[in-house]
Order: sequence, then structure tokens, then C-alpha cells
Amino acid sequence: MIKHYSIAATFGITAPVSMQVEGFEPAQNVYVPTQKPYVFRKDHLRDVLAFLGSPNGDGLYLTGPTGSGKTSLLEQVAARLHWGVHAVTATAGWSLTICSVSTCWSMAAPCTG
Ligand SMILES: Nc1ncnc2c1ncn2[C@@H]1O[C@H](COP(=O)(O)OP(=O)(O)OP(=O)(O)O)[C@@H](O)[C@H]1O
Ligand SMILES: [Mg+2]
Repeated sequence: MIKHYSIAATFGITAPVSMQVEGFEPAQNVYVPTQKPYVFRKDHLRDVLAFLGSPNGDGLYLTGPTGSGKTSLLEQVAARLHWGVHAVTATAGWSLTICSVSTCWSMAAPCTG
């Protein structure tokens, strides 16, 4: 069930009260990360929310030094919007296979080592 969240109240940033973002009603979804304290930067948050609002079949590429908050930004946005996520760690040579009843999809990265 869709629920609208105030951007200012949900992410603790200054934004017009009228600015809202779509999320989900709280539910017993084990894929929704646990909320932890996180300091949201407006510019980064804007990019993530814009992407979630209209991904247009594309991906979102976050880059930055180790510990700069890439993973926790996405986790904590998902936590506050009650959006279920599944993390896959991708390193050289990784592969992932997801199967439904009749079909399997595989993703693989070439091993560069
Ligand atoms: N803006 C922030 N507010 C609060 N905590 C933060 C913030 N940015 C990073 N942290 C904390 O720093 C730690 C490292 O962050 P995180 O794992 O998100 O970094 P990362 O960019 O994904 O690193 P890596 O490249 O190693 O995967 C986490 O404990 C996270 O909660
Ligand atoms: Mg990370």
C-alpha cells in the first residue's frame, strides 16, 4: 500500500512542508532495513529520491570512498520509506542466479583476476 511521506520530517532536512515522496505503509516486510541514525545530505538524497520516483528502466550508480555512506544512504532511505531491498555484494567474478517456477535469470561479472 502506497503512503506519502514528508521529505523534511522523514529525512530531517529543511524542505518545504508540501514536498512529499512515495513510500509504503509500514508492514511486516523482512526486507525493509532497520532505521538507524543517518545524516542525509540534500543533494545525495535528491538523486536517490528522483531515481526511485522514476527509474526509467535504468540503474543508479553511486561512487565514493570507502565509508563515505553509499550503502547506508540507500539502506536508510529504504528504511524510512518502508521499501524492501536485497543487497548483493558484487566483486570480480561474482554471479547471481534468480529462479522463478519456470525460468532462471543469471547475472555475472567477468573475472578480471
Ligand atoms: N551520512 C552519514 N550519517 C550517519 N552515518 C554515516 C553517514 N555516512 C556514513 N555513515 C556511517 O559510516 C559507516 C560506513 O558507511 P557505509 O557502509 O554506508 O559506507 P560505504 O560508502 O558503503 O563504504 P564501502 O565503499 O566500504 O561499501 C556506516 O556505519 C554508516 O552508518
Ligand atoms: Mg558499501
